[in-house]
Amino acid sequence: MVAILGYSREQIVAAVQAMYTDVAERPSAPFHFPVGGETCHQLGYPAALTQGLPPALLDSFAGVGYPFRTGAIEPGDRVLDLGAGAGVDSLIASRLVGPEGRVIALDLTAAMTRKLKRTAEAQGIANLDVIQASAERLPLPDASLDDITSNGALNLVPDKRLAIAEMFRVLRPGGRVQLADVVIHRPVSVDCHEDPRLWVECVVGATVKEDLLALFAEAGFEQIDPVGSHDYFALSPSAQTREIAAGFGAHTLEIGMRRAAKAPSPFSHWRQRLDPRRAWRQLTRRGLLGVAALGLALTSCYGTLALVGLLPLLGIGMALDEGAWATAIAAFVLLTLAVQVAGFRRHRATGPPLVAAAGAATVLYALFVDYHALTELAGFVVLAGGVLWNLRRRRREEARLLGVA
Ligand SMILES: C[S@@+](CC[C@H](N)C(=O)[O-])C[C@H]1O[C@@H](n2cnc3c(N)ncnc32)[C@H](O)[C@@H]1O
Repeated sequence: MVAILGYSREQIVAAVQAMYTDVAERPSAPFHFPVGGETCHQLGYPAALTQGLPPALLDSFAGVGYPFRTGAIEPGDRVLDLGAGAGVDSLIASRLVGPEGRVIALDLTAAMTRKLKRTAEAQGIANLDVIQASAERLPLPDASLDDITSNGALNLVPDKRLAIAEMFRVLRPGGRVQLADVVIHRPVSVDCHEDPRLWVECVVGATVKEDLLALFAEAGFEQIDPVGSHDYFALSPSAQTREIAAGFGAHTLEIGMRRAAKAPSPFSHWRQRLDPRRAWRQLTRRGLLGVAALGLALTSCYGTLALVGLLPLLGIGMALDEGAWATAIAAFVLLTLAVQVAGFRRHRATGPPLVAAAGAATVLYALFVDYHALTELAGFVVLAGGVLWNLRRRRREEARLLGVA
């Protein structure tokens, strides 16, 4: 699978096209992800479904799961295979829709569309159209499709929100999506802008599972139903890819869903975006919970202090319960410390939690034993040092995993 970390759109497109030109033209070359007909069966395709498919297309199969598990496609349907590659799924869909239906196989990589077009013509497959285009700009009319099937493509698309909006646009109301794609448990936080190698050799370009589901929900899809998941990268011939995949929890998710009758209102859009559970997930997944807790501790300490100083100037009186104030600060300080201790699990370094513990102890001493503003400030500075050290260790550990300098 291709990894997309820091990038420009053009660099991603070029890296993806180069990689999948190789998969189309030299499928027996070594790849860091599994390729070929055998992979289909390992991912769950029944032999009956792939029987009789052209071997040249099966050789270039690079899907990551079995999207047909959702059973979305019916006879007579108009179907788009998004990121069709050599077209194994397109040909399966063309059989399912029958002569009354139609399948559009769309892919970004010219070598893939050339290969599929040539083979489909040679086989006389009449209900299949092959288009070279990007998922971000589908050359198809609004509401013109009954189903979209996609296998392993969305994680390669630079602007996933745009691609999903396009999927919504071209599907008819009630139209169905069957999708297999790579998702991860936690996002990559190291900065890999300078390293195009990673775009094409690693595992980590995918979206965090909950974020991907949220993107579809925000775009107006409903009945979003994860039907299966695979440890896809366990099939990778590359030990490095397997290690990276395990490090980020990369795996395949198979999802079925429906396009809602109407586009979501801006209100529901913002309600979903501002959901506090989502903010919590983002903070924890990005390793920023400690920074947020420290921010709360500092705000509750110095923010309250500033408020107490300012309000009388505005003629507003304020009585402050000092015990409750100190307890609130202490609670956030302890939360900050707990997150640093939990960070040990990831980077196995004792330094950051020890420094954070020294900082927390100093703040607590100032709060409850012998108050000095400078002691308290020094405690916060040391605590912040522990938090930053923890973040740095976490990023270093990721960089090591990815082989980034
Ligand atoms: C992992 S391969 C899977 C191919 C095919 N679905 C299969 O199962 O064999 C991903 C495919 O998505 C295509 N792709 C990547 N980015 C794309 C984009 N922005 N628009 C359309 N296709 C894209 C690639 O060219 C590649 O053929």
